[in-house]
Amino acid sequence: MFGVVSAGGFVTPVAAADSPRERLSLDAGWKFHVGDDWPNALHLENSGTGSGPASEKFADTYWRVVNLPHDWAVELPFDWAADGSHGFHVLGVKYPTNSIAWYRRTFELPKSDEGKRIWLTFDGVFRDATVWVNGWCVRHHEGGYYPFREDITDVLHFGGKNTIAVRVDATKTEGWFYEGAGIYRHVWLDKTALIAIAPDGVFVRSEFEGNIPQGGPEIAVEVRLLSTLTNAAEATVDCEIISPDGKSLKKFSESEEVKRESHGVVKLESKLSSPIFWSPENPKLYKLITTVSVAGKIIDQKETLFGIRTVGFDPTKGFLLNGKHYELYGTCNHQDHAGVGAAIPDALQEFRVKKLKEFGCNAIRTSHNPPTPELLDVCDRVGMLVMDESRLMGSDSGNMKKWDDQIRRDRNHPSVAIWCIANEQFMVQDSPQAANVARTMQDYVKQLDPTRPVTYASPEDDTFLGINSAIEVRGWNYHYGPLMDRYHAAHPSQPNVGTEQASVVSTRGIYENDKERGYCTAYDVLRSGWSTTAESWWSFFAVRPWLSGAFAWTGFDYRGEPTPYWWPCINSHFGILDTCGFPKDVFYYYQSWWTTNTVLHLLPHWNWPGKEGQGIRVDAHSNCSAVELFLNGTSLGKQTMNPNSKLTWNVKYAPGTLSAKGFDAAGKLIAETKVETTGNATRIQLTPDRKTITADGQDVAVFTVAALDAQGRVVPVAQNKINFSIEGAGRILGVGNGDPSCHEPDTYLSIIPIRSIPVNEWRWKLARIPGKNTTVPEYANDFDDSAWDVLNAKTGAEESTIKTENTTAIYRAHVTLTDKDLKDGDVQLRFAGCDDEGWYFANNQFIGESHDWQAQPAFDVKKVLRAGDNVIAVSVTNSYAQGGLNPNVNVDIIGKPGVPPWSRSLFNGLAQIIVQSTEGAGEFQLTATADGLQPATAVVQTKPSVPRPSVP
Ligand code: GAL
Repeated sequence: MFGVVSAGGFVTPVAAADSPRERLSLDAGWKFHVGDDWPNALHLENSGTGSGPASEKFADTYWRVVNLPHDWAVELPFDWAADGSHGFHVLGVKYPTNSIAWYRRTFELPKSDEGKRIWLTFDGVFRDATVWVNGWCVRHHEGGYYPFREDITDVLHFGGKNTIAVRVDATKTEGWFYEGAGIYRHVWLDKTALIAIAPDGVFVRSEFEGNIPQGGPEIAVEVRLLSTLTNAAEATVDCEIISPDGKSLKKFSESEEVKRESHGVVKLESKLSSPIFWSPENPKLYKLITTVSVAGKIIDQKETLFGIRTVGFDPTKGFLLNGKHYELYGTCNHQDHAGVGAAIPDALQEFRVKKLKEFGCNAIRTSHNPPTPELLDVCDRVGMLVMDESRLMGSDSGNMKKWDDQIRRDRNHPSVAIWCIANEQFMVQDSPQAANVARTMQDYVKQLDPTRPVTYASPEDDTFLGINSAIEVRGWNYHYGPLMDRYHAAHPSQPNVGTEQASVVSTRGIYENDKERGYCTAYDVLRSGWSTTAESWWSFFAVRPWLSGAFAWTGFDYRGEPTPYWWPCINSHFGILDTCGFPKDVFYYYQSWWTTNTVLHLLPHWNWPGKEGQGIRVDAHSNCSAVELFLNGTSLGKQTMNPNSKLTWNVKYAPGTLSAKGFDAAGKLIAETKVETTGNATRIQLTPDRKTITADGQDVAVFTVAALDAQGRVVPVAQNKINFSIEGAGRILGVGNGDPSCHEPDTYLSIIPIRSIPVNEWRWKLARIPGKNTTVPEYANDFDDSAWDVLNAKTGAEESTIKTENTTAIYRAHVTLTDKDLKDGDVQLRFAGCDDEGWYFANNQFIGESHDWQAQPAFDVKKVLRAGDNVIAVSVTNSYAQGGLNPNVNVDIIGKPGVPPWSRSLFNGLAQIIVQSTEGAGEFQLTATADGLQPATAVVQTKPSVPRPSVP
């Protein structure tokens, strides 16, 4: 509760609950089907009449149930003939039956919601999405990364059931990397009053004189109001600022007249003293509570988290955070994780951001697309800067609308520090037209968000043409070296940033290149023509603050772009972490020079049977001033570490212990480490990242699965196949192991087995047969229909049999079933269509009716059918144009879904399994078994929680 000072000066106590705004998650319980079985579902001739799954009447009873976020690409097998840049999943133009899918969701809307505006928001769907609500096509959205939203109020049933159907077409790709398929981000239903804060309608920013963070900032708030009231209304906007420790700091308000369908913008300002500055090291968040009232009544309230900080670039000092040089220890990342693909649960976003922080990464570039909003929430909360990138450049209205949506959605996040208009537009970047487009996009940023700089990820050398000449901050993709110095000297007033560097390739736990298997050595040596090793690019940037630091390609490995090898390799090797987030050796290089921790790490592992007496390269990643190496206690020499480098020895292999001591500049021992030759694997170890997670159906526990020897050491070469089972309040989402050439599934589906028995040889006759009346002989099994016309199943689907309006015909067919068919599970009789109205009978019993020519009626017939001969009869009335029964009819025998047999092989000692909570509080128990190894069981508590408000 807090007091609102209205324009008139009186104080009314209000609570958030008084606001009619509701934000409900629509993630749970979607029905899902892969296949373009209804290509004509979109009707262009009539409104509100989507057919097939787009129709309200469609029976999706036996479709699979999925929760969002969901990516079906990750569920598909691999094939060498598939698109390797996208990870060799059988998706895309060559695989039309796998590339289009349908999602359906029904929900009840209370009558009391009448009079509200209802919005449907998709945070991101890959790729083209067509959305129907109650049969009305409300949106066609192209593109896989931008959010889209519709006001669906007009077509809803208040006090009744509503149906959302989404056809997703992932045939086309946008990137040259894995992109997923499906509704891979969240979906929301927002309810507001008729006059309310517009979507993404609050913008709050802190402003300091000259962008110098001294004294107290001006907090500037802009609130866009949207009204569908007939009359103009005087709206009062009250703002309250809450400090990071929960204290109310300021209240201020403003009033404005808002007209119908216009965006009334209310601007407010207030000064704060003694601010706490946001930074990755101190991610303190303030909260703005915006309350809107009309005639003294609260009509909306919204909370917005924000941070107080300044960002900027200086041509000589580089990137500035809160007025000081701040080196960007960045990584570029795609949205892809082992086990789940692009559908990353919010808790896994946090897991990933924290993994990046472990080696000192303080900035993420969302290459090459706008991020998921929840990723930005995590970055705000745990401290990570973000370069927020668009998918494509363009100053046409479509692209500018997307740019507008992206900026308005993301501009309150303190983590977002830089906008990036595009990546590597090789073909056009030097042209005056590209410069114009860049300028238009950049100028637009300055209008919507005057606080942040703009860059372009340029793959060019010291060229100063086109985009590079127009852009505020010169972005550098590769080309480290004298060219950068030359460019800087020639354009001393343009700031610079390393938008993309490195692209060194390495495979976790592999120390020899293996083209056959597609593995790359992990010694920070293997690179392609355009790329550089971690040591070379970083030592160049580290001594040039004007370059601002850079974003290494990439933080995590991702599916697709297998480089330098192709099949059987299915994912990239650029990561500092593998697809699971397990560190590769180069992790410790960055950790040495990007953190203040004392780091001492040796590579490779020390299990080399058969190599006794042969020379093995040993590297040390460390930030100690000197490192001394020992083999089985004998010193192999002490070496001095140059800043930003690593140390190398050649060691004659003998099993045992390779150890190292690290010393500071004064010669004091500050670190020790060792790598031991292990025995064979004897047991499994299961370690969750957290012992307690929230029982909200969203949270996840990420387990490391390891094989240990008898002394409890991880066996770095173990490849055992591990089987998993789960009991209690958890469900397995996915498995992975970081092996770039592993073709084992990441997910195991619990599919409902359906076997369809066609009902063929239909006969028919025009006859005025009454619908439900079961006494007519034509419905009976023993009726002799041999003199009736035969309906050919092939032509019958297209050719209408009833040629005149208001005419009735009867159709009959036989189907033979066995005892086995009817024994287990359900039995459904499924029709492809009935134009216009039908009354259905099985073995002379009425089973149901249909009154929509676009519907595909299905009836539960388990109790009516029997072993032996069965007769299906349908009376059809054609009321408009031509009509009749579509003779594509099936009896579906529906089995029980089996328990999926989850398993995954270890890759070099490790695998990962991701478990999501169900909404049951208590615990779940995960068990891992393997031939010849002692099994392991881990228990994770699922603590009760207030679930995210959801559409029931
Ligand atoms: C860059 C590109 C990235 C990735 C990388 C691989 O040029 O921007 O998306 O393809 O090369 O090294």
